[in-house]
Amino acid sequence: MSLLENIRVTQAFLESKGIEKPEFGLILGSGLGELAEEIDNAIVIDYADIPNWGQSTVVGHAGKLVFGDLAGRKVLALQGRFHFYEGNPLETVTFPVRVMKALGCEGVIVTNAAGGIGFGPGTLMAITDHINMTGQNPLIGENLEEFGPRFPDMSNAYTPAYRETAHAVAQKLGIKLDNGVYIGVTGPTYETPAEIRAFKTLGADAVGMSTVPEVIVAAHSGLKVLGISAITNFAAGFQSELNHAEVVAVTEQIKEDFKGLVKAILAEL
Ligand code: HPA
Repeated sequence: MSLLENIRVTQAFLESKGIEKPEFGLILGSGLGELAEEIDNAIVIDYADIPNWGQSTVVGHAGKLVFGDLAGRKVLALQGRFHFYEGNPLETVTFPVRVMKALGCEGVIVTNAAGGIGFGPGTLMAITDHINMTGQNPLIGENLEEFGPRFPDMSNAYTPAYRETAHAVAQKLGIKLDNGVYIGVTGPTYETPAEIRAFKTLGADAVGMSTVPEVIVAAHSGLKVLGISAITNFAAGFQSELNHAEVVAVTEQIKEDFKGLVKAILAEL
């Protein structure tokens, strides 16, 4: 079956489960999936039960889709995303974003854990723009004309109005929210110190192994995007060593601020 047919099958399956007219998609990164537990009137579906859906294999990613009410909005949340480094084709990595669009979402909030290039652990960063350092692009192949153009404009992939709302809300809540550029790599290795020095020169403020493919597919179809990075560590060369346990532990510390912020933003979008 074609990608478009697969999208329609999955859309019909989710609609048959009562998932109708979500307003916003939420993609919850490493350790940030707990937010989905606050969704009221929830319809919860295991990834394993959804046709054409990938499987989540990373510690800190639950592998459930949760639909319902959060902060007065209808949201479709992904507790755990698919990464290229898990061996997933980018079509699988970005498939949920296609389905969010097909179901009628207006926008997506894409979150991740990232290494700080300048920013330190515990920082919340609104993504202003990205640098695609993966050497891949999820739109390679036949273009889905129903979704968007062959050559999509990426000038405002991260919707400025959403970011302005995020900052206004953060200020009201007394939560510090920085702005920065996210550089996306494939992983699964963390970067070398030389790579991080290079990325700094290129203008990156945070580095991570997700988000870029999903945001490219979102931008292609005109979905509005708010990207938020939770900085969990100094990137390589700025601290003695890196490990996933630290990423999970720091996310644990900032998740209350993160959850409060995202909920308050949703109410205002
Ligand atoms: N590099 C890449 N991805 C990450 C990092 C990092 O330092 N921290 C959390 N995700």
